[in-house]
Amino acid sequence: MKDKVIAICPGSFDPVTLGHLDIITRASNMFHKVIVVVAGNSSKHCSFSPEERVELISKCITNLPNVTVEHYGGLLADYAADVGATAIIKGLRAMSDFEYEFQMALTNKKLNPKVETLFLTTAAENMYLSSSMVKQIASMGGDISDFVPEVIRQDIINRIKK
Ligand code: PNS
Repeated sequence: MKDKVIAICPGSFDPVTLGHLDIITRASNMFHKVIVVVAGNSSKHCSFSPEERVELISKCITNLPNVTVEHYGGLLADYAADVGATAIIKGLRAMSDFEYEFQMALTNKKLNPKVETLFLTTAAENMYLSSSMVKQIASMGGDISDFVPEVIRQDIINRIKK
């Protein structure tokens, strides 16, 4: 891999989970700089505002000096070009993720040929984890401590209860 590659980790992060954080941490070990991008997904209705999602992620990455987070409302391919990123990092949980991720990777490549999408396999313990599960469990008063970073656990509970 070339020196000083900038990678982006895009997602809805509604909210960020331990699965996301694992992918972000592993990306931070592989790349010079990693930008976590809270992006819009037109097929999802998010519970947390972009600002809230950025804030939650910020609290989880304080130990990762080469990682930053920001919100972007446009096309990811344009964002990558703007910041000079040449890698998009995504986590793959199961085959069920693959078709959708493959379609996005090909579309992003078409829109910005300079950017490569790389998939990291999710850690086995996070295979079943999703933001929507976290929200459902929290909304019913269940324990989410195995699913989200401890530093934001209470923030998520407080926000979901509102
Ligand atoms: O966590 P998600 O919801 O699977 O992430 C999907 C996301 C946000 C990465 C994707 O919807 C995206 O890239 N949105 C930005 C707008 C865009 O570029 N759309 C075309 C993607 S091919």
